[in-house]
Amino acid sequence: MSDRLNIAVFASGRGSNFQAILTAIHNKTITNAQIVLVVSNKADAGALDIARAHNIPALHLDRKQFASDHEFTATVLRTLEEHGVNFIVLAGYLKKLSNEVVRRYRNRIVNIHPALLPAFGGKGMYGIHVHEAVIESGATVSGATVHLVDEEYDHGPIVLQREVEVTRTDTPESLASKVLQIEHRLYPEAIRLFAEGKVKVNGKTVVIEQ
Ligand code: GRF
Repeated sequence: MSDRLNIAVFASGRGSNFQAILTAIHNKTITNAQIVLVVSNKADAGALDIARAHNIPALHLDRKQFASDHEFTATVLRTLEEHGVNFIVLAGYLKKLSNEVVRRYRNRIVNIHPALLPAFGGKGMYGIHVHEAVIESGATVSGATVHLVDEEYDHGPIVLQREVEVTRTDTPESLASKVLQIEHRLYPEAIRLFAEGKVKVNGKTVVIEQ
């Protein structure tokens, strides 16, 4: 069995993916992992409330609180170390992690994106904008992607993907809700695979050992 995952979750919003992962840990669908810290750039993020309700350290950490990028990054890295973090889960985090953090945690940072990457990703492609773009394109499938995080938005190696059908009657909102349901299953599944040491990174691709 591989080392236990000590997870820091970074989130900017409501935190439903974080909640789904927490539930999977609590009901032992995921073993060998714990969430040791939740960080948000928004003081009023739902994710921080969920963390506090479960006695998980919850921190509001935002670049604006610091004089420079360097000070902010140094604080983020020190905080991660203080909490023994060895794995980072981005769950609706709308900021880009600094390159130093990406380097320090290379292949140990995952993100979930509400479309089938490499389509409909990149800067500005978040929230409802993603689903609007999918519907406007006429695509008949969308879905969710869990990927490793590198220095570019929505770019690192893909870990897991799952599709949903886009019907002619779908609106951006109805598609968002279908995709979110998929996310709540896909993200815990991906974390479980990491916790079980089954995810191997081979250059730009990921191999899942079953
Ligand atoms: C999800 O749709 C996720 O794909 C995206 O941001 C949203 C976060 O939702 N990265 P929540 O905060 O987990 O409810």
